[in-house]
Amino acid sequence: MYNEINLDKIDINSKPPTEEQARQYYFMAKCRELVKEFEQKNGRLPSACVATFGCQMNARDSEKLRGVLREIGYVETESEDADFVIYNTCTVRENANLKVYGRLGVLHGYKKKNPGMKIALCGCMMQEPSVVEKLKKSYQFVDLIFGTHNIFKFAELLWTTLVSDRMVIDIWKDTNQIVEDLPLERKYPFKSGVNIMFGCNNFCSYCIVPYVRGRERSREAKDIIREIEGLVADGVMEVMLLGQNVNSYGKNLEEPMTFAQLLQEVEQIEGLERIRFMTSHPKDLSDELIEVMAKSKKICRHLHLPLQSGSSAVLKVMNRRYTKEQYVELAEKIRTAIPDIALTTDIIVGFPGETEEDFQETLDVVRKVRYDSAFTFIYSKRTGTPAASMAEQIPEDVVKDRFDRLLKEVQEISKEMAERFTGTEQMVLVEEPNRQMEGYMTGRLGNNHVVHFPGDVSLTGRILKIRLDECRGFYYMGTLPEI
Ligand code: 5AD
Ligand code: SF4
Repeated sequence: MYNEINLDKIDINSKPPTEEQARQYYFMAKCRELVKEFEQKNGRLPSACVATFGCQMNARDSEKLRGVLREIGYVETESEDADFVIYNTCTVRENANLKVYGRLGVLHGYKKKNPGMKIALCGCMMQEPSVVEKLKKSYQFVDLIFGTHNIFKFAELLWTTLVSDRMVIDIWKDTNQIVEDLPLERKYPFKSGVNIMFGCNNFCSYCIVPYVRGRERSREAKDIIREIEGLVADGVMEVMLLGQNVNSYGKNLEEPMTFAQLLQEVEQIEGLERIRFMTSHPKDLSDELIEVMAKSKKICRHLHLPLQSGSSAVLKVMNRRYTKEQYVELAEKIRTAIPDIALTTDIIVGFPGETEEDFQETLDVVRKVRYDSAFTFIYSKRTGTPAASMAEQIPEDVVKDRFDRLLKEVQEISKEMAERFTGTEQMVLVEEPNRQMEGYMTGRLGNNHVVHFPGDVSLTGRILKIRLDECRGFYYMGTLPEI
């Protein structure tokens, strides 16, 4: 594993190794020399800030960036007025891009005060050629740009940037490489994301992910298991298995296996208490998976099952490959097999051509399935996707009105759904002190609901039984029954 590699033993005057893992450690050692020089010159270690936009995949990637920076000797800071700042970007909706441009303006101000500062950008947004063009033209002060496929090269790219005064750009179109065992800095000591696959082959017509994250690639089960065993030995109790479409895990492996089979293997890991996963595509969700979940003692009672639209006509144009009826039937099957499960979803309103009748179909599914919570999105046109060139884009005021109506419905239902657990006792993983209420801790139920309860920081990372006294819409107030 990575923590057995000693950077001091690496000969940085030799040629860089070609084997990828060894190569990145070699560059970490070289960067560390530069950090030492910085320290001698400035009487302090350089600071680094990693800012993450977007999904859980990005959050996990940021842990990899932090791991490398820590190994090199940077001191982590939350302030973007730092010696090294990296934005791990998202591009799933236009808003995410706009946010990055806005914040880059602020970074430029910091860099004027601290000319030695290095600014880096990585992640999904960088996989779009138009973005890189814009940065080259109007954001000359950015020092390093790389994408999603070569994040494992971060140490090498960082070194190149530190010794150069030109903009370093390295974007790959795709890769089938998966480099294991690089450093990592986990946000929480007791829970962790674990990538099980990368990329997506679905090409939903509105979605840019397949273009920026590349084709589907699964990690070998033995590597996943080994990583989780290592995490458990290091104090992790809960893992979140991550992939854009976990239900098609294993299809492209030399020895194919199903996601349900992988889950059964993960379940066997001693000391691991909770298993989560994200995201499931309804078209690939098997009976085998439902059965494995129903029997499991460790898989959390939560399933995120993106609906996107309740209209079969819209779903067809979205290229989702299921109908309204198939989706509702699947949700019913899941609720019957696992009655206490929380079902959550993603819904897009204002997809090109969506009529009021289509929208009513979406509301109908929301009422039938009764989601425990739902992320609702206004359709965002992503250049390069098939939906972007569809004729009938919906006027903003119509979309906004539908969005508000959907949100109201979703919120009322999720509040009612949450009430069904009020008064019960549930096992809760205690995550952190509550930021607003002194003397309170915040924890998470298996079904992903949050509860605040009186307690102190010593409870962090423990799984405790908590009584849910009161439901306040999106969260509960609770107490420890035995104290
Ligand atoms: N516009 C709006 N929402 C989108 N999503 C993906 N692409 C778009 C888009 N172009 C939403 C989907 C997906 C979630 C991660 O983001 O609902 O499930
Ligand atoms: Fe995008 Fe569809 Fe792939 Fe999800 S399944 S990442 S929505 S293309």
